[in-house]
Amino acid sequence: MTVQASQAMRVAIFGATSGIATSVARRYAELGARLVLIGRSRESLTAAAMDLTVRGAAEVEVQEADFGNTGDLPRIATSAWLRFDGLDLALIAYGTLPDQQEVEANFAKADQALLLNFVSPALLCGELARHFEASKAGTLAVISSVAGDRGRKSNFVYGAAKGGLQRYLEGLRHRLFAVGVQVLDIRPGFVSTKMTAHLPQGGPLWASPDQVAADIVRAVEKRKEVLYTPWFWRWVMMGVRNVPGPLFHRTSL
Ligand SMILES: NC(=O)c1ccc[n+]([C@@H]2O[C@H](COP(=O)([O-])OP(=O)(O)OC[C@H]3O[C@@H](n4cnc5c(N)ncnc54)[C@H](OP(=O)(O)O)[C@@H]3O)[C@@H](O)[C@H]2O)c1
Repeated sequence: MTVQASQAMRVAIFGATSGIATSVARRYAELGARLVLIGRSRESLTAAAMDLTVRGAAEVEVQEADFGNTGDLPRIATSAWLRFDGLDLALIAYGTLPDQQEVEANFAKADQALLLNFVSPALLCGELARHFEASKAGTLAVISSVAGDRGRKSNFVYGAAKGGLQRYLEGLRHRLFAVGVQVLDIRPGFVSTKMTAHLPQGGPLWASPDQVAADIVRAVEKRKEVLYTPWFWRWVMMGVRNVPGPLFHRTSL
C-alpha cells in the first residue's frame, strides 16, 4: 500500500547540509516523508532536495537561514512549522567545532562558538516547543555531543555549549512530558563528517554518519530521551564522568 502524501511524516531539518543530517534525511526520504530542509546555502539545499526526491521523499521544501542571526529564529521556526501545516519531527543539527586554543585567545570566536552551539539552538528549541506544545504531539530532536558530559581542557568551550544544551533539553523534556511531546537529546561520539575532516580518523571510536543516522531514526521511533551513538559512548562517558578530579587533572583529555 502506498502512503498518501498528505499522511506522510512531516520532518524539518535545521542544518540540513550537515553530514549527520544528510544521512538522517535520506532515511526519512526512503520512508516517503515530506521534508523541509533549512540551511544557509540555497544551492546545497536544492541539490539535497533533488537527491531526496529521487530517494522517495513525498515532497521536499527548502528554506534559507543563517542560524547565527538569532533575531530571525522565531520567523524561521514558524515558517518551517507552517510548510506542511505542522511537524511530526524537528531535528536541529547545526553546530561548529571550534579550536579550543583559538577560542581561548579570541573573544569573537568564543562568542560565535557559544552562539552556534548553545544560544541559537536553545532559542530555536524554545520557539519550536511552543508549536509542539500546542499540537500535543511530535518529536523535537537535537544533536548535542558526548563532549557536553564533562568539561575537559581540550575542548571545554564547545563542551560547555553542548552541556548547556543538554540541560536545556532536560528541562524542556520535563515541561513537554505532560503533553506527550518527545524531546530527544542526541549525543554522538566521533563521526566522520566535514566537521571532523581535519582530525586523524579511523579506529573503533569512529562512526559513519549513516550509522549515527540509523540510531537516530530508531531512537525517534522508540521515543527515547537521550541517545548515545554509537551505543558504547554511554559507557565511555560514564567512565570519563566518574574519574575523580585529582586524577582527572593529570590527564590530557
Ligand atoms: N562530527 C562529529 O564527530 C560530531 C560529534 C558530536 C556531535 N556532533 C554534532 O552533530 C551536529 C552535526 O554535525 P556534523 O558532524 O554533521 O557537521 P557538519 O557536516 O560540519 O555540519 C555542520 C552544519 O552546521 C551548519 N552551520 C554552521 N553554522 C551555521 C550558520 N551560522 N547558519 C546555518 N548553518 C550553519 C553547516 O552549514 P554549511 O553546510 O552551510 O556549512 C552544516 O550544515 C553538530 O551539532 C555537531 O556539533 C558532531
